Amino acid sequence: MTSETLQKARDYEGPYPGNAPSPRPCYHLTPRIGWMNDPNGFSYYKGQYHLFYQYHPYSTQWGPMHWGHAVSPDLLHWTYLPCALAPDQPYDEAGCFSGSAIELPDGRHLLMYTGVRREMQPNGSTKDVQTQCIAIGDGLDYEKLDCNPVLDEKDLPEGGSRYDFRDPKLWQEADGTYRCVVGNRAADGSGSLPVYRSEDAIHWQLETVLDRCYNEFGKMWECPDVFPLDGKTVVLVSPQDMNPVGLEFHNGNGTLCLIGERDPDTGAFQREDLQAIDYGLDFYAPQTILSPDGRRIMVAWMQNWDTCVVQHPGRCWFGQICTPRELSVQDGRLMQQPIRELETLRGRRVYHSALVSDEVVLPGVSGRVVDMTVTLRPGQPDAYQMFRIKVAYDSTHYTMITYKPRTSVLRVDRGHSGFNRDFIHERKCLVRSQGGAIQLRILLDRCSVEVFVNGGEQALSTVLTTPFSADGISFEAIGGQVMMELEKYDLTLDG
Ligand code: FRU
Repeated sequence: MTSETLQKARDYEGPYPGNAPSPRPCYHLTPRIGWMNDPNGFSYYKGQYHLFYQYHPYSTQWGPMHWGHAVSPDLLHWTYLPCALAPDQPYDEAGCFSGSAIELPDGRHLLMYTGVRREMQPNGSTKDVQTQCIAIGDGLDYEKLDCNPVLDEKDLPEGGSRYDFRDPKLWQEADGTYRCVVGNRAADGSGSLPVYRSEDAIHWQLETVLDRCYNEFGKMWECPDVFPLDGKTVVLVSPQDMNPVGLEFHNGNGTLCLIGERDPDTGAFQREDLQAIDYGLDFYAPQTILSPDGRRIMVAWMQNWDTCVVQHPGRCWFGQICTPRELSVQDGRLMQQPIRELETLRGRRVYHSALVSDEVVLPGVSGRVVDMTVTLRPGQPDAYQMFRIKVAYDSTHYTMITYKPRTSVLRVDRGHSGFNRDFIHERKCLVRSQGGAIQLRILLDRCSVEVFVNGGEQALSTVLTTPFSADGISFEAIGGQVMMELEKYDLTLDG
C-alpha cells in the first residue's frame, strides 16, 4: 500500500521527468528533483541496474530522507522511477537513511535501510535512534515489513551506540546464507563494524565485529561495504571527522579502503593495509555491486558535506553520483577505472602527439563532456618542473590540474571555477613517480572533473560550478618541455 507520505513525494516529483527544466550532467546521475546524497540499494535486478539514493525531493537541502530511484541498462543512461521509500512509519518517521538491496531466491527485491526515529530525552531535547528495517518489492513498489525493525539496540555489540547504528550493506555468501555489515559507534565513540548473519535476510544475529576504528582514522565509520576482490577482502568505509595525515584524508568526511583477509568460518577480518579511496574534493559514501559479468563496480556521492552550502542559484537539483568505477586490487592497491561502458558514449576522436612548453590550445581539444587521456613522456627526469592542464576554461574561469615531477605531487585546484566562496578549493596527492612520466585520464561532465592517475592507481573527483560555456582546455609545461600524447573523445548519450 502506498502511504500518504510516499504518494505526496511521488506526486511532487511526477512532473520532473529528468533533464528539464535545469541543465544537468550528461551521464552522471542527479536527483530527479531536489536533494541527493548517498547512493543506496545499488543492485542488478530483473535485467537492469537499480540505483536508489538519499533523497529530499522538496528542496535542494538535506531533509527528511526518502529513497529516490533510477534504473539503467549500462549505469550511464538513467531513467527515473517513482520515489521508493518515504519516512512514513513510527520507526522511520525521521528518515529512511542509507542501505542496500539484494534479490531474494523467490525473485523479490529486498531493500534494507536505516529507520530513524526521534526520541525525547529527559531534559526535553530529542535524539535520533537508528534501527535497521526492510522493505520488499518488485523493482517499483516496496512494502515495509510488519516485523520492522529487524535489527535494533538489543542486537548491538556490547557498548554499541543506538544513536549511531546505520547504513546496512547486505550480501549473500556462497553457501546461500546472508550477511550484513552496519556502521556503529563503540563505547569509546569511534567507529565499529558489526556483521550480522541470516538464513533468510530477514532474521539476523550478530556474528562478529569486523573491524574497529579506535579513534584512529576518524570517528564514526559510515556506509560500510565488504566484498572479496582479487584474492583479498576489501572493506570500504566513510569515516567522519578524519584528521589529515600528510596529503591524505583532507576531506574531514573521508573514505577509506581496508584491505585484508576474512576468515570464511568465523567472519573475522585481519586488516593488512589502509588507503584513501579518492583524493578529490568531492567523494563520499561509496557502495559497490557485483555486475552480472563479474566486475566489482563502485559508485559514490560526488560531493563533500562541508561544501553543500555552495548551491547553484536557479537549479532544481543538488548532488550527483560519480562515474561508476571498476575496482581491482593490484600489488596491494585498490585500483579504479571508469566502467568500460563509458567507451560506448565516445564520439569523435582527436589525437595529438606534441612537444609542450608554453601554454597551448590544440585543435579539436575543448569541451565539457569529454573523456581525455594525457600521457607525458619526458626524455629525461628533469625535462620540466611543472605540467599544467586547464579545463573548463574561459576568460574568467579555469580549473587546474598540475603535476610536479620533482615532488610527484598532483593537484586539482578549482579556485577559479566559479565557486563564489573561496574555501576548500584544492586537493593534492602523491602519485607514483616514473621520472616525470605520468598518465592522466580526465573525465569532464559539465558539473565535475574526475582524474584517474596511471591506470587507476589514484582518483580525484571534484564538482565544478563553472558556466557550461567555459569549455577551453590548455596545456603548459613550466621550466622545460615535455612530450605529450593526447587522446580525446567527446561523450554523448546518443552514442
Ligand atoms: C552519509 C550519511 C549516512 C546516512 C545518510 C543520511 O552521508 O550520513 O550515514 O545514512 O547520510 O542521509
